[in-house]
Amino acid sequence: MPGQQIQTQNKPLMFKILKRFNRCRAAEMTLPHGPVRTPVYMPVGTKGGMKGLTSENMSELIDCDIMLSNTYHLFLKPGEDIMASMGGLHKFEHWDRNILTDSGGFQIVSLGELNSLDESGVSFKSHIDGREFKLTPERSMEIQNKIGSDIMMALDDVVPPTTTGPRVEEAMERSVRWLDRCIAAHKNTDRQNLFGIIQGGVNDDLRKRCCELMSARNLNGYAIGGLAGGEDKDDFWRTVKVCTDFLPDDKPRYVMGIGYAEDLMVCSLLGADMFDCVFATRTARFGSVFTKYGMIKLKKEQYAEDFGPLSEGCQCYTCQNYTRAYLQHTFRHDQSCLHLLSLHNVHYLIHLLRGLRQAVLDDSAEKYAQEFFRNYYREDK
Ligand code: GUN
Ligand code: ZN
Repeated sequence: MPGQQIQTQNKPLMFKILKRFNRCRAAEMTLPHGPVRTPVYMPVGTKGGMKGLTSENMSELIDCDIMLSNTYHLFLKPGEDIMASMGGLHKFEHWDRNILTDSGGFQIVSLGELNSLDESGVSFKSHIDGREFKLTPERSMEIQNKIGSDIMMALDDVVPPTTTGPRVEEAMERSVRWLDRCIAAHKNTDRQNLFGIIQGGVNDDLRKRCCELMSARNLNGYAIGGLAGGEDKDDFWRTVKVCTDFLPDDKPRYVMGIGYAEDLMVCSLLGADMFDCVFATRTARFGSVFTKYGMIKLKKEQYAEDFGPLSEGCQCYTCQNYTRAYLQHTFRHDQSCLHLLSLHNVHYLIHLLRGLRQAVLDDSAEKYAQEFFRNYYREDK
């Protein structure tokens, strides 16, 4: 269809929308470390590296295009100087595909290490040794420049989405001012992208204003932050829709911190392109896995003699080689299966969205989405 292909080339990012299904976009985003097929789920290796999975597992077994790390954790350990002397995080963790780093502020607030926050930045105590630090927009950019991530996130002022009153507006406006300081401090504009983060709680007017203010900065991409923190689903979805309505059509849009399969599908269908969450790996450590028919707890007695794969039809290494019965056995006795469960969960989310992308390209996205929801919410698992 004419006008369907949109391409933005704004070094060091190219975003090419290949096809659409209503609001949903199948695209290719090209970054300094190669292509990213979107919509995309980005697994989180908080400190660099995935818990229980090697970088080779991530590329060879899962075919992951982009991983996420956190500035806050890397800054505390191994520290920015080790990162810089190694020539950046890609070399440090032996990962030659793309990396996105979050700016640090959100982790400080969510880990409860925040000491104080004012216009200059956030002060916090290390959760490792109690030392005091200050993170400003300039410092966040300096550290992320040393890490060398392909996409860096601006430092933002985040409040829980259940917050009401003037604090929500203050945080949104401060996030715009901090974005401007990040833009001014960013040194590697030829090889690292900076994304702004839309804030504004679940207030449509604030979100719209934030989208307009940040879009005027003409960045290579935008995130929708401040969600998935206990708000109603209706507020969550409406907010994502308001933002995808007011963000530029030709740039990637990233909803931060969401990792339930159904949310990834709904947000992709609303026109978002990128997602991240620790949920897939964290929940695997408790023996919870994604299946075609919803999530299951592997330790339940009913799986003791179940010789099928974790999820019917899953092409991951775990499902190709191991049964539910064996995985339950090792989970109960020595936990040696944890990396196999993490591998499956990360594979599941990456390939759920890659399947949606392919369905958009093949004109079968409606059927794909309907089948996903029909199966995922089936009563008998
Ligand atoms: N991760 C999840 N939500 C957010 C957010 O609003 N801001 C940042 N920086 N990181 C997040
Ligand atoms: Zn699997």
